[in-house]
Amino acid sequence: MCGIVGVTGNDNAVSILLEGLQKLEYRGYDSAGIYVNDLNGQDYLVKEKGRIADLKKAVGPEVHGTAGIGHTRWATHGVVSVANAHPQYSEDHRFYLVHNGVIENFKELKASYLSDVSFESQTDTEVVVQLLDLFVRTEGLNTKDAFIKTLGLLEGSSYAFLLVDSEDPDTLYVAKNKSPLLIGVGEECNVVCSDALAMLNVTHEFLELHDGEVVTIKPKSVEIEDMDGNAVSRDTFHVDMDAQDTDKGTYPYYMLKEIDEQPNVMRKLAQAYTKESGDADIDPEIIEALKNADRIHIVGAGTSYHAGLVGKKMFEKLTHIPTEVHVASEFAYDDPLLTKNPFFIFLSQSGETADSREVLVNVNARGFKSLTITNVVNSTLSREANYTILLNAGPEIAVASTKAYTAQIAVEAILAKAVGVAKEQVIAEDFDIRQQLGLVATGMQAIIDEKETIEKLADQYFVNSNRAFYIGRGIDQTVSLESALKLKEISYVQAEGFASGELKHGTIALIEEGTPVVGIITQKKTAGLTRSNLQETQSRGAITLTIVRNGLKKEDDTIVIPDIDEMITPLLSVVPAQLLAYYTSLNKGLDVDRPRNLAKSVTVE
Ligand code: F6R
Repeated sequence: MCGIVGVTGNDNAVSILLEGLQKLEYRGYDSAGIYVNDLNGQDYLVKEKGRIADLKKAVGPEVHGTAGIGHTRWATHGVVSVANAHPQYSEDHRFYLVHNGVIENFKELKASYLSDVSFESQTDTEVVVQLLDLFVRTEGLNTKDAFIKTLGLLEGSSYAFLLVDSEDPDTLYVAKNKSPLLIGVGEECNVVCSDALAMLNVTHEFLELHDGEVVTIKPKSVEIEDMDGNAVSRDTFHVDMDAQDTDKGTYPYYMLKEIDEQPNVMRKLAQAYTKESGDADIDPEIIEALKNADRIHIVGAGTSYHAGLVGKKMFEKLTHIPTEVHVASEFAYDDPLLTKNPFFIFLSQSGETADSREVLVNVNARGFKSLTITNVVNSTLSREANYTILLNAGPEIAVASTKAYTAQIAVEAILAKAVGVAKEQVIAEDFDIRQQLGLVATGMQAIIDEKETIEKLADQYFVNSNRAFYIGRGIDQTVSLESALKLKEISYVQAEGFASGELKHGTIALIEEGTPVVGIITQKKTAGLTRSNLQETQSRGAITLTIVRNGLKKEDDTIVIPDIDEMITPLLSVVPAQLLAYYTSLNKGLDVDRPRNLAKSVTVE
C-alpha cells in the first residue's frame, strides 16, 4: 500500500527511481512522483496522476540527478490529484518527503503548530514535512533532530518515511513504524525501498529497519540509531531472487502467469516440506508447539482468511485440535475468550498486512506462540512471530492473489499431517501428502490446459452479468467465498459465495433470469444436496454451472476436475474460478492486474 523508493550516490537516480516504482506499482497506482537532485544546485519534482507509465511520460529528458526519492500512491487522505501525490514538500521547498501509512493526529498537529503555514495538499504527509520544516526554522534544529522531534509527535500512526533535505541532498533520512521499509546496500550507492524486488537491479544485499529507529543514508554509509541517538549495528541479508523473476515475460498479465505457476509451486512445496516416504518435513519445534496446543487460531485477511477456512477443516480432521479462523481486522479489537495454551497461525502472502500484524502484536504481548506462513522472507509478520514457514511461491505481483492461496492451503495440509502423525491421530500412510501434491500439480495443469473452454464460459455467462453466485457446502463453501472474491475484485461483477443450503433462507430472492450460479461439488457427502440447491435456483431463472470432482460427475456438468483426496480439493476447484475471474476481467477490457480502488500489501488498518 503505497510504494517508496530512494537512491543516493548514483548518476542514474532517475531511472533507478522510475524502474523501482514500476516494480512497486502493485502497492498503489493512483498517482506517483519523484524528486531528484544533481548535487549542483539543480533539482526536479515531477508528479502525475495515474500509473507509473504516466509519470514516465511526464519526466522530461532534462530531469537528472544523483540522489532522489519516489512514491506510488494508494490514496488515504485526500482525493487522487497531482497536489496530493508524493513527494510532499515544505512551504520553502527545502524538505521533500514520501510516506506510506496514516498519521492519525494530523489534524490536531496542523491546528496546534501550523496555522500560519499555507498548504497545497489535503494529505497527512504534508503536515509532517511542514512540521519538520517549522522545527528547523524556529528552533534551529538540524534535519535529523527535527525529524526525530516530529516523529515523537505522531500518535497512533503507521508510517514509513523517506526524507531528503535539498540543502544536503545526498543524505536520505528514513524511519518507520508498523509499515515496511528496507535499505539496499550497493557498491557505490545506497537505496531505499518498500520491497526488495524494486531494487534488485542495484543490489541483493538489504538491511531491515525496525520501528523506533532513524537511519541516515549517504552514498557510502548507512547509520542506524535509536531515537536516543544510540548507534545500532545490523547485518545485511541477501535476497536470493533474480530481477527477471519479477517480470511477466510473454504473459499479458501477471495474474495469468501466477495461475500458470501453481503446478510448479505445488512441486516446490512437496520438495521443500515433505519426504520421499510421504511424510511431512517440518521444523520439529513447530510440530511440538502445535501438538501441545489446546486450540489453534488461524488469522488472515481476504484471500488468506479464505485459505484459513480450508485450514480449519484440515487441522480439525487430522489433528483433532479445535481450530478457529479469524478475520484479522475483527479479531484485532475483539476481546476473545482464550484457552490456556492456544497456538496462532498467521496466513499472509505479503507478511505485511497491518490488520494481521495488529493481532500478532497482541498475541506477542500475551506471550502466546505463533507461526507465520508467508511468501516474503524477512517480512514483518515473519520477523515478529516465533516461527515462519515460507510459501516458496515466487513473487506474487497481480493484486488478486492466486498462487499464494493454493500455496497456503498446501502448507496447511502438510503441517496438519505432521501434527496429526505426531499426535497419533493419523497413520502416516493414510495420507501421503507428497503423492497428493504430485496429483494436485498434474490436476492443476490439466485444468490450466483447458483455459480456452473456461474463457468461453466467462464470455458467455459472466462478461455481461452484473451479479453471480458461487455455492457449495463444507469445504466447497469456503472455495465459493474465494471464487466470488476473485470475480468481484477484478471484474466488478457483484459476486457472492454462499453455503448452498442457506440461499433459500433469503438470498435466493436475488436470483433473476440469467443470473449465473456456479455449484462447487467435490464432496461425496454433500454433492446431491448442492445439486438440489442449484436446481432451486435454476427453477427461478438462474443459469447453473458446475465445478465437479471427476468421481461425482454427471452428464451435464460444466467443468470436471481430477480426483484427489477430498480434503484438499480446494487446491483444484479454485483454479477454474481463478480463470473465470481472469477472463471475465480481460474480456471486459479491464486492467486485470491493477483493479480499481485496490492495492496489494495492505499496510494500513
Ligand atoms: C485478494 C487479495 C487480498 C489479500 C489480503 C491479505 O485477491 O489478495 O484479499 O489476500 O489483502 O493479504 P496478505 O495475504 O498479504 O496478508
